[in-house]
Amino acid sequence: MLSDVTAFAPATVANVGIGFDILGHTVEALGDRVRIRRIDEPTVRINSITGVAGDLPVVPALNTAGRAVQAMHEALNLKFGFEIDIDKGIPLGSGMGGSAASAVAAVVAANALLEDPVARINLLRFAMEGEIVASGSVHVDNIAPCLFGGLTLTVGIDHPRVKSIPVPPSLRCVIVHPHMYLGTREARAVLKSDITRSDFVWQTANLAGFISGCYSNDLDMIRESFNDVIIEPQRQSLIPGFKDVKRGAMSAGALGCSISGAGPTVFAWVEFQYAEAVRGAMVAAFERHNLKSDYWISSIENYGARVVKA
Ligand code: HSE
Repeated sequence: MLSDVTAFAPATVANVGIGFDILGHTVEALGDRVRIRRIDEPTVRINSITGVAGDLPVVPALNTAGRAVQAMHEALNLKFGFEIDIDKGIPLGSGMGGSAASAVAAVVAANALLEDPVARINLLRFAMEGEIVASGSVHVDNIAPCLFGGLTLTVGIDHPRVKSIPVPPSLRCVIVHPHMYLGTREARAVLKSDITRSDFVWQTANLAGFISGCYSNDLDMIRESFNDVIIEPQRQSLIPGFKDVKRGAMSAGALGCSISGAGPTVFAWVEFQYAEAVRGAMVAAFERHNLKSDYWISSIENYGARVVKA
């Protein structure tokens, strides 16, 4: 029986432009690591938080990883406890799924310590409890790809169904993180609760076109439908220079460019031969708006969270 396990969970691009709260994909370049040790006392406690942690709460009920493991502990009525060490690799408030990654890495590590580990789909709901602590809302578009890897579509909240969507192999994702903080709560608060019929039709057409383009390896279809007519227009003013960054990415050959999750990170899907040019154009555009940035070029079909040390 294992007593000490570390799991890694990757960063994620949620929404992928047109799939607000239901689509997301992994970014292998960075992620969070969570170490969990079995303790005799039937409780959940956080021992340390390191890395690009900022000011994260160490009270388990207020911490995404702590809350996710608590939810698991309660649901399974465990007679022993867990001690958690969190090593953050994903900056807070970056729009790269940091809260989801901590929650997912924590439940994957804790699961490996169980006599009877639960199925991955059941870990989703525990990680969701952690995500609620961070963002105040239930959405699975970071958690599902983080757990399952690649591009995922999640249908349903109470009984979520997760579908892995194939991605044309020539595509890469360029991720550019400007050095600023944007909270998910704040970025959700700006969204209107109603939409016009015309926007509804365009958004559903684009989402359907995008997914069918992924299944059929149709890059033109992906390019044509990579257009979020609802969320991006409402959020773009929260990210200085967004329009220029997007214009730069598209001029350099991107298939599409939008806000990663709640932002401020901006991502672009691109055929691999244009990836460097797109990255350069995006970083230069942020610089013109006095924002330095970090950047990564990632494949899209990656593994999800996994145990890295046991
Ligand atoms: N779908 C969510 C949003 C992701 O855009 O608000 C936040 O992590």
